[in-house]
Amino acid sequence: MTPLFSNLRPIRLRLGTWLDVVLISDPEHIRWLDSQQHVERRIDPERGWLHRIVDRRLRVDMGFDGEVLPVFRARSDAKRAERQRELMARFDALRGLPGPERNEIAGYVANPKQKGRDIGVLVQQWCGRLFLPQYRATKESYAAGRRLARFPAQSPFAAWRQRVDGRLDRAKEVLMDLAEGDLHCVHGTSIGMENVVRTVRNLRNAARSEAQRGRSLDEVLRECLVAPPVVLRTCTADVEAPFLRKPLTPHTLIVVLVSRAFAASGDLDVAFLSQGWSACPARRVILDMLRAVWSAVRQEDGGRRVPFDGVGRSWDAHTVH
Ligand code: HEM
Repeated sequence: MTPLFSNLRPIRLRLGTWLDVVLISDPEHIRWLDSQQHVERRIDPERGWLHRIVDRRLRVDMGFDGEVLPVFRARSDAKRAERQRELMARFDALRGLPGPERNEIAGYVANPKQKGRDIGVLVQQWCGRLFLPQYRATKESYAAGRRLARFPAQSPFAAWRQRVDGRLDRAKEVLMDLAEGDLHCVHGTSIGMENVVRTVRNLRNAARSEAQRGRSLDEVLRECLVAPPVVLRTCTADVEAPFLRKPLTPHTLIVVLVSRAFAASGDLDVAFLSQGWSACPARRVILDMLRAVWSAVRQEDGGRRVPFDGVGRSWDAHTVH
């Protein structure tokens, strides 16, 4: 029997306007959707029961006094777009944020036997310091970051429990205090951080293998980089997609399977949706940091300086101390 996901064709589940969900995993389809002005990120709860449930979880539960995390904000939100541009420029200038956190992350990856500080706390602190030099992560803040990052995928019962017993609110409070009220920093130290932590763990596993250590970061990242499993889109008007038989409508929930598209293409731009309007502003600073980390692994190997392979930009002048 052919597995359901054996190719990248869209899958649509449709029962009139009552249920209309389409799963997209072809990078070309994702790019096409990105180019459509009527394809949005804001979920309108008036468009159906599923939209209502998703909106409640992302905007209300994961919201902060009526404010929504940047990653759930509308495409048309001019302030969001302006901050995205501003952060991108600022992060790029940091060139991987050299410092004790980056060195410790490199040590953790390069020496799989070495026990060190909790890697989650370390990565969260690296992420927090992209925004605030004084950011200090703790075990409690890391647990809070993970809780928020995992909340969208919780079962209805687990989500309800975390809501009523106050654990979700407590996590949000801890993250918000450390972020000094900056919701972009809250996003970076929770949802963003979780993808970096998992990537760093994968790199450490890869570093155990001699064959892997001989590969460039680009090659290794094709297997190790952790991309968001899913991002959601909706339509503000009917949209005729060339790869679908029926038009997308404002009742359709578009589920973009980012990690699947990345696994199929191995294209880092797909993992960060770099070519679209919602591009991750941290993509280059993350790759710069990982490049420095992987360089340390390869130096451990031969004690020699290994040239970088140029994802994003040349790195010639950098070494990890
Ligand atoms: C491996 C790590 C990461 C990956 C693969 C990743 C990937 C992505 C993707 C695919 C999006 C687009 C979401 C959408 O279109 O709905 C996004 C958005 C975003 N990411 Fe990342 N991200 C990572 C880590 C981070 C970190 C550490 C930060 C902050 C320091 C960050 C900050 C943001 C922000 C602020 C947005 C929202 C952009 C906007 O729409 O205005 N990300 N990221």
